[in-house]
Amino acid sequence: MSALVHLIAGARPNFMKIAPVVRALDARSSEFRYRIVHTGQHYDRQMSDVFFEELGIPAPDRHLDAGGGSHAEQTAKIMMAYEPIAMEERPDATVVVGDVNSTVACSLVAKKLHIPVAHIEAGLRSGDRRMPEEINRLVTDAISDLFFATEPAGLENLLAEGKDEASVHFVGHVMVDNLLYQLERLGRVGDEGLEARDIKAELERYGVVTMHRPSNVDDPQVLGGIMAALGRISESLPLIFPVHPRTRAGLEAAQIPIPAGIKLIGPLSYMAFLNLWKDATIVLTDSGGLQEETTALSVPCLTMRENTERPVTVAEGTNQLVGTDPALIESAARNVLAGDVPTGRRPELWDGRAAERIVEHIAQFLGRTVKA
Ligand code: UD1
Repeated sequence: MSALVHLIAGARPNFMKIAPVVRALDARSSEFRYRIVHTGQHYDRQMSDVFFEELGIPAPDRHLDAGGGSHAEQTAKIMMAYEPIAMEERPDATVVVGDVNSTVACSLVAKKLHIPVAHIEAGLRSGDRRMPEEINRLVTDAISDLFFATEPAGLENLLAEGKDEASVHFVGHVMVDNLLYQLERLGRVGDEGLEARDIKAELERYGVVTMHRPSNVDDPQVLGGIMAALGRISESLPLIFPVHPRTRAGLEAAQIPIPAGIKLIGPLSYMAFLNLWKDATIVLTDSGGLQEETTALSVPCLTMRENTERPVTVAEGTNQLVGTDPALIESAARNVLAGDVPTGRRPELWDGRAAERIVEHIAQFLGRTVKA
């Protein structure tokens, strides 16, 4: 009898991470069955459905519709909706990715039902416990059974926290698996990401901005300062800014003026966004994933945060941590525009095969637990 795996996805950055796992499980369909559980944490079409279509993954088998609300409300809604499904289907393992509220909610539910939890992107630590994602990472890793690290720091953190060496695996990054897969497709299909193609046709050089961290967008003072810095940079280089719903709400609530050189657009699909940032002169972001994706393709990236849980992108890649001081953001961007760009290299095992390694480790783990 094949093993049943639940794949949990809820927020935008989860969808691209489960896509390669789906493909790797499909390649071993005699050993595995899987069910995709969409928690509904993100629910707007541009934040959710569009990714399923583009990433070539099947529509979710279960939809929990648990979006919106405070952290506690959202986490609780997801837990209450996932529990009966986990009880009914009794998967052999629940696979969670990343660090969003859906990750921690479903891990807690599965573990209390004695269902093994496998955490993809385990072990990352920013050291900043004011970040909701840091709490989600700590709690998920405290109870998971199998840990898949994307970079050496993740592995080191898990071992330092006392995890059993046999349960911790440095496998590379499923996000990069997907990036390389979609990049190849973009080259082949060519007409994907039309919205980005139109923008690119107009502009010879441009920068790309993304920002959605509560610490940057919920405080009008901080958001206003960053927007002013971006405005000054945009006098030298036009900036395209696909805006996350949380950020749009922050800009509107504080009535922050949008500088003329910044083009605000709605959230983009994966392909359109990839098509845009891969050719950018510079990316300015507070995203976790984009720090890694820019490193994978050697695009200069300035991260507008005081810390990163992804140190390999700074040590080996093209990422620079610039913080949120407007003057520092501006001067770092000017350096990049003057050609002072870290060359960077693609980190070890970011080779497009992480999901295959993960599925092999899960197979071995389930073989062991079934026998035990
Ligand atoms: C979540 C993740 C964050 C991730 C980000 C990617 C957590 C704690 N945070 O943050 O790590 O980087 O997703 O986007 O899980 N909203 C909509 N439509 C949507 C989704 C959200 O309008 O489809 C609005 C709602 O007002 C919602 C707010 O955005 O309350 C925030 O959404 P939420 O999922 O709570 O957190 P994100 O900021 O998206």
